[in-house]
Amino acid sequence: MKVLGIETSCDETAAAVVADGRQLLSSAVASQVSLHARYGGVVPEVASRQHLLAIVPTLFHALADARLTLQDIDAIAVTMGPGLPGSLLVGLNLAKALALSLGLPLVGVNHLEAHAYALWLEGKGEPPLPLLCLLVSGGHTEMALMHGHGQFQSLGRTRDDAAGEAFDKAARMLGLGYPGGPAIDRAARRGQPRYPLPRAWLPGSYDFSFSGLKTALWRWVHQQGGRPEDLAASFQEAVVEVLAGKASQAAAQQGAMAILVAGGVAANRRLREAVAATSPVPVLFPSPALCTDNAAMVAACGYFRLQAGQRHGPALDIAPNLKLG
Ligand code: KG4
Ligand code: ZN
Repeated sequence: MKVLGIETSCDETAAAVVADGRQLLSSAVASQVSLHARYGGVVPEVASRQHLLAIVPTLFHALADARLTLQDIDAIAVTMGPGLPGSLLVGLNLAKALALSLGLPLVGVNHLEAHAYALWLEGKGEPPLPLLCLLVSGGHTEMALMHGHGQFQSLGRTRDDAAGEAFDKAARMLGLGYPGGPAIDRAARRGQPRYPLPRAWLPGSYDFSFSGLKTALWRWVHQQGGRPEDLAASFQEAVVEVLAGKASQAAAQQGAMAILVAGGVAANRRLREAVAATSPVPVLFPSPALCTDNAAMVAACGYFRLQAGQRHGPALDIAPNLKLG
């Protein structure tokens, strides 16, 4: 079964074709990073207009890469939320139009759940369940226990900034550019985590908080002063230590068989090392290219939803605040 995936929840216009939820036939991603870079973050109105321009060429790019036409597609999966309303609308409306005109089944999927499904595209077979999922992206930081396909039990989430958002804001303070995650990752390799930045452990809860850390970094940058590479390393270490520590603790307490780290921040080299070092169970990571936003993960997630009999009709609407589980 060939599923066409469509993703426009934030600043990446993406389309992909996946066979049987596991075989990646193509994945086209038109990034808007350079468009938003001058603002230091995603501008929602600019994002939705750019999705409109890019979505159809990106769709045909994905079909051409897979050497397929629309007639070869068996079903359509699209991100319905969470995300920016104006951006979600572009992908959702294209998906509905295609499903209606081609007479194909349609399924709307949760973007966070889709991040987890990047793992199914790695050709590593089924992960052991229950699986502790640490989903860390620019818009979300969520910890959930996956019991089966489409069965996610949310354990905790960020109370303020998402981990990726914190990376982006820290990079901006340090003058390292946008997007901040990769920039901090690179700068931190040339620095030492010598500054004592705070860790918000929030004992007794699986929630996260990064706003205090951000304020502490601001003080070091603007009041105490410090070498940018060392501040980047110190900031990264503070974020990574809490993410790795809490995911490992949750895995042990919840009886998880493995930890999956996915979402854009899962591309972070130190996070990968730290979770592997602290986890009591095996740790699984999708490859960095599948960690950041793409439509292949949406197609994979949609495939398992369709297999479970889920379908959406033409009344499917965006769900900008969609929760996991
Ligand atoms: O999943 P994603 O592509 O988009 C959202 O769903 O938000 O995540 C993007 C986020 C950005 O905040 C970016 O700075 C962060 O992922 N990111 C990283 C790295 N690569 C991307 N953060 C830390 N280290 C990285 N290497
Ligand atoms: Zn994402």
